[in-house]
Amino acid sequence: MITQIPGCPKVFHVPVLLDEVLQHLSLKKDGIYIDCTIGEGGHSEAILENIGETGLLIGLDKDKKALNIAEERLSRISRNFILINSDFLNLSFHLKRLKIDKVEGILFDFGVSSLQIEDLSRGFSFKNNGPLDMRFDVSSPLTCEELINQAPYLELCRILKDFGEERRASLIARNIVRKREEKRINTTFELSELASKTLGRGKGKIDPATRTFQAFRIAVNREIESIEKILPQIPNFLKEKGKVCAISYHSLEDRLVKWGFRAAKENGILKIITKKPIRSSPEEIFKNPRSRSAKLRVAEKINFVLESNKRFENYN
Ligand SMILES: C[S@@+](CC[C@H](N)C(=O)[O-])C[C@H]1O[C@@H](n2cnc3c(N)ncnc32)[C@H](O)[C@@H]1O
Repeated sequence: MITQIPGCPKVFHVPVLLDEVLQHLSLKKDGIYIDCTIGEGGHSEAILENIGETGLLIGLDKDKKALNIAEERLSRISRNFILINSDFLNLSFHLKRLKIDKVEGILFDFGVSSLQIEDLSRGFSFKNNGPLDMRFDVSSPLTCEELINQAPYLELCRILKDFGEERRASLIARNIVRKREEKRINTTFELSELASKTLGRGKGKIDPATRTFQAFRIAVNREIESIEKILPQIPNFLKEKGKVCAISYHSLEDRLVKWGFRAAKENGILKIITKKPIRSSPEEIFKNPRSRSAKLRVAEKINFVLESNKRFENYN
């Protein structure tokens, strides 16, 4: 969902589970916080408002257009932020470059923003016609169109199965190959029509093109790879008692977060705060239907001093 803020000419993506994220980050006035997927700055705006003049917010995004909007939005609050046009995969490099060792909190709000979906030229939406692009970073070489028209049949099957969890992956892949032999597939409507014709309308509420679009978007942006690589690094960037909040929108993302936090817990570096993921309230879902699939998981960096004291007392 996008909304217009009074007195501001721009429309923005509405941040999901905002109150819950703020509550769990327990913001300190002089804290340093990182928003790894700042988008148009919805969560970051609220973070910046709460950390005041003494804190620092670092925001990353692959999408330059989103960062420009975030910059304009955040500048109205304070100058205590640094925006970086980068994959969050490179967080370690950027923190070293900025001479920042550890921070109080880290936020991930994975996936695509409403503004990206609404911008027809970006090709994220199967509901509107546009070029098959789907890149978060428009300077990266691989568009969805290139992937769809060039990937071998088996690669198409793998993408649809692994990233879309599409049961009829091979059927869709076969129809893509057939179609592209007649003509290059280059619009979102061509791809959504192909998925709908292959799968039929079905009884479910979910559009048959949903999984296909999700799969190709994830593949084009190498989303799973970035998440898999950053999660094990997160404890290194957190101060003791520092928090990481991660919002996922589909089961692949949520599983990675769940397993990532669990592995860090087993290694004694993170404590899991949310045994079950936090979901949006019916009111939030009513106001912002995109939030219905959101799952927030939170973990905290273990306080080694307290933990070791506890163990010491236990042995006495
Ligand atoms: C759901 S939106 C974030 C919205 C933001 N929280 C807000 O309230 O405005 C997700 C953003 O993450 C960005 N993104 C996705 N994967 C990324 C990655 N690996 N590195 C950096 N940014 C990424 C997308 O470009 C998009 O702008």
